Amino acid sequence: MTSVIKIILNKERIPHVDIDFMNNTHFEEIDMVQELGELITEYQQNETSKENEANKITPLLGNWLQHTLAHFDRENSLMLETNFPMYPVHSGEHDNALAEMTRIVTTWELDKDIGMLADYVFNVWPEWFNNHVNSMDMITAQFAVMNGFDPHSLPSK
Ligand SMILES: [Fe+2]
Ligand SMILES: [Fe+2]
Repeated sequence: MTSVIKIILNKERIPHVDIDFMNNTHFEEIDMVQELGELITEYQQNETSKENEANKITPLLGNWLQHTLAHFDRENSLMLETNFPMYPVHSGEHDNALAEMTRIVTTWELDKDIGMLADYVFNVWPEWFNNHVNSMDMITAQFAVMNGFDPHSLPSK
């Protein structure tokens, strides 16, 4: 069996940005993915009650997708509100990531391919998330705060 490297992100180690509500959303998402990762590992280790595990994984994926949608919407609104010049690049990354996540969730619902899901949750998504927060989110928050956005304020929606 080949060894599989799992990337588990952690709230202390992911990059922090200059706006509280963005960090809070990221932390919530890390919690959701950690819970999902634990269920996937259980599924992979448990030979007997896979249906049971699958029934727990599916609703978590739905919640994650909804959370991601709201996360991206709030950041897109912030960019528009503050006239962030790289809006098309940042929101384009959101669009691509959301399309990919939707495809993964839909595929899981159809065929329960745990290998595909595990690769996404433990490799593809953490790498994407870390890079995205460290580049697009970081610069968006910096720009907003430099242009007068209160870093401690709540999102406008
Ligand atoms: Fe973000
Ligand atoms: Fe973002």
